[in-house]
Amino acid sequence: MNIADIPASPAHHALQAHAQSARNWHMRDLFAADPDRFSRMSLEAAGIFLDYSKNRLDAHTLQLLFALAREKNLAARRDAMFAGAPINNTEGRAVLHTALRAPRELAPQLAQQDVGADVHSVLTRMRRFSDQVRSGQWRGYDGRIITDVVNIGIGGSDLGPKMAAHALRSYSHPRLKMHFVSNVDGHDLDAVLQQIEPATSLFIVASKTFTTIETMMNARSARAWLLAHGGADAEAGLAKHFVAVSTNLAAVTEFGIAPENMFPFWDWVGGRYSLWSAIGLPLMLALGHGYFGDLLAGAHAMDRHFCEAELEQNLPVILAMCGVWNRNYLGFGAHSIACYHQDLAHFPAYLQQLEMESNGKSVRSNGQPVQQATCPLIWGERGTNGQHAYFQLLHQGTDIIPLDFIAALNASHDLPGHQDALLANCFAQAEALMRGKQEDEVRAELRQAGMNETQQAQLLPHKLFAGNRPSNMILLEMLTPHALGALIALYEHKTFVQGVIWDLNSFDQWGVELGKALAATIQRELAGGAAAAHDSSTAGLIARARQARF
Ligand code: F6P
Repeated sequence: MNIADIPASPAHHALQAHAQSARNWHMRDLFAADPDRFSRMSLEAAGIFLDYSKNRLDAHTLQLLFALAREKNLAARRDAMFAGAPINNTEGRAVLHTALRAPRELAPQLAQQDVGADVHSVLTRMRRFSDQVRSGQWRGYDGRIITDVVNIGIGGSDLGPKMAAHALRSYSHPRLKMHFVSNVDGHDLDAVLQQIEPATSLFIVASKTFTTIETMMNARSARAWLLAHGGADAEAGLAKHFVAVSTNLAAVTEFGIAPENMFPFWDWVGGRYSLWSAIGLPLMLALGHGYFGDLLAGAHAMDRHFCEAELEQNLPVILAMCGVWNRNYLGFGAHSIACYHQDLAHFPAYLQQLEMESNGKSVRSNGQPVQQATCPLIWGERGTNGQHAYFQLLHQGTDIIPLDFIAALNASHDLPGHQDALLANCFAQAEALMRGKQEDEVRAELRQAGMNETQQAQLLPHKLFAGNRPSNMILLEMLTPHALGALIALYEHKTFVQGVIWDLNSFDQWGVELGKALAATIQRELAGGAAAAHDSSTAGLIARARQARF
């Protein structure tokens, strides 16, 4: 596949031609030429403010990008998703995570299902159960109340609830301690089991398929631990200490969890979009149904904005199209997320699955090779920590890596001075990346420090900053459940829009299958089974592991 092949698209051709000159622009000049750039290139929706003025683009670039979105029938594709059309064509499924946060009457009817009725009936069950656990009415096998909730799941059955539980920890129930176990590495589960007591712990086994190796292994080990340490008989122990969240009733029953302790969802909820479904149960336990409802309402507010606003005023569309410009026309292969809020520590990892599992693909939904680069590498850290680790590369490295800065204007603590220091750093990094530092500025600084011409010449190249490095600034008033819901939905829709531009099915993930199948073979060999055919490296590693095991 030749990534440089040009699709038959007038907007794409126009953008390519335009990029020839835009590549030479410096954002310093763009700002100098237009004092209103910030007000022209910033907007607010559903409580989220976006400043996209620090991108290497102008009004004409944006016009061309919106033309590309129109050429790809973005609005019709969006409406098809919300209406429940089977847009996940390789699995023949609708994509309806938006129905999980919509008022009942707005959810679409599928041929076989009243979506609104089913969603709200599960929400009612989740609410009843979480009220019981939170109030202390739900008791363990020896009559004590639940103090620890352990979510066992991986990928979308882990990253969303974990990220959001951490982000909203200041809204959480004071008694319930939340734990998230995902890794098949037994150190993960072991570390949690060492902190909890069987009689006061509740395990949630969260798996859409209920076949995922990591989750099933952890669930079986947790069940064995409970029965071995708890003094509970198998039936009572499981009934009071294990619930399941899944689409697979048969496998849940087979595991030993009764249907009344299972919270279902449906095949039209993709794993990485499932936070809003019963996969959010640990969150509802932590937050209570009121704040969980606020989270859903925030996401729904962003859904409405995405559906109703013109493309030119549409936050997810703008964020997505700036990304397309950076990826496809300026050639930047990575995108970093800098969260200037400690409680958003898990947000970059969450976005990694959302964006890279959705759009990390090389064939279009019709099976033809893609004709341009698709999802960039998504990675990031919290600010200010990242500044003292990898920001050196962002400022002076040979690759240009655009960033999303995300910050809340108000803190949920009252420690004096910290919030201003945090925001100052956030805004300063974006300014420095855009503006850079030019020769005359560096020379003046060195002269002032008393350096002679020779010393100045030596240090000058090291102290120059080219600048012109793009970033978006995303601001919340405060990290509330409503704001977090809107923020997550913003990125979901950004991901959807980019999938449309790149002609992808953003809702399958065949790329994870090969490694899973090979791991199953190797696991049998590590356990002493017959050797399978491998390359010499893999065969050598298996032999090495078998020899070295105690
Ligand atoms: O292997 C990838 C994946 O299928 C993700 O898409 C999904 O979120 C994760 O595994 C977990 O799947 P499940 O919820 O079925 O256990």
